[in-house]
Amino acid sequence: MAGVKRSVVVAGALFFLAVLHSTLFPCFATDHIVGANRGWQPPANAGPDAHLNYTVWAASQKFYLGDLVSFHYPENMQYSVFQVNFSVYTNCTISMWSGHDWIYNWTNKGGRTVIPLNKTMVYYFVDASHCNEGMKVAVNVTKNVTEGTSLSKESKGQSDKSSAPMYTYTLSLLIVVQAILFVCVQMLYPGL
Ligand SMILES: *[C@@H]1O[C@H](CO)[C@@H](O)[C@H](O)[C@H]1NC(C)=O
Ligand SMILES: *[C@@H]1O[C@H](CO)[C@@H](O)[C@H](O)[C@H]1NC(C)=O
Ligand SMILES: *[C@@H]1O[C@H](CO)[C@@H](O)[C@H](O)[C@H]1NC(C)=O
Ligand SMILES: *[C@@H]1O[C@H](CO)[C@@H](O)[C@H](O)[C@H]1NC(C)=O
Ligand SMILES: *[C@@H]1O[C@H](CO)[C@@H](O)[C@H](O)[C@H]1NC(C)=O
Ligand SMILES: *[C@@H]1O[C@H](CO)[C@@H](O)[C@H](O)[C@H]1NC(C)=O
Ligand SMILES: *[C@@H]1O[C@H](CO)[C@@H](O)[C@H](O)[C@H]1NC(C)=O
Repeated sequence: MAGVKRSVVVAGALFFLAVLHSTLFPCFATDHIVGANRGWQPPANAGPDAHLNYTVWAASQKFYLGDLVSFHYPENMQYSVFQVNFSVYTNCTISMWSGHDWIYNWTNKGGRTVIPLNKTMVYYFVDASHCNEGMKVAVNVTKNVTEGTSLSKESKGQSDKSSAPMYTYTLSLLIVVQAILFVCVQMLYPGL
């Protein structure tokens, strides 16, 4: 009877942990700045020594669900950020005047665009005027598999043997996570 009660408590605690885990997501999100310190510009403008290539840059990154991708460009609106589909991205068949060549116009007058990567899919971004010059990037968003396995492994271990040490371990983990959550909420929403 006590064993059953304990597993219920542990299961509840694990569920609570999982919920907290997803709540905490923004805290651990990586902000991928396209082109790093070179920002968003026609690659040739960065100079030959820069070897700016957004395909190469994207290959150097791991984009996980919940991450952010940021475009930094001058404020004067000469560059744009349009989300397009694969064929428009591949062939740069985008015209600013068509009104229907893109999925979303992410251009921001302030020169900064921050896009939450909230779907596991490949996002394609182009500058409408300099796409042919290589001012385009494909962002392949995947799930952080490491994260998923560690959680499911944890719950498997629980059902095998809901021992007292495991129970204590879960509770202490819960307290630690709550402390982290508190700090994160303070960071994200100061003054709460
Ligand atoms: C790009 O354009 C070529 C020529 O029109 C076409 O054959 C090809 O299918 C297009 N590629 C994509 C990915 O749409
Ligand atoms: C895209 O968005 C920017 C910023 O809102 C706007 O200035 C621009 O006119 C838009 N471009 C098109 C082609 O709709
Ligand atoms: C990609 O977008 C273009 C422009 O909106 C559209 O004509 C084309 O059919 C789309 N291609 C696919 C495969 O969805
Ligand atoms: C994902 O982000 C897009 C763009 O900001 C937004 O339109 C959409 O509602 C978001 N979806 C979810 C599930 O949050
Ligand atoms: C960037 O690198 C890719 C892969 O090496 C290459 O196919 C592409 O042509 C390069 N783009 C530019 C603009 O040099
Ligand atoms: C995106 O990444 C996943 C996992 O690495 C890979 O299996 C898939 O082929 C990639 N998709 C594209 C279009 O590159
Ligand atoms: C993926 O998840 C693992 C396990 O939680 C974590 O150690 C790692 O830092 C995560 N990677 C990223 C890029 O968030």
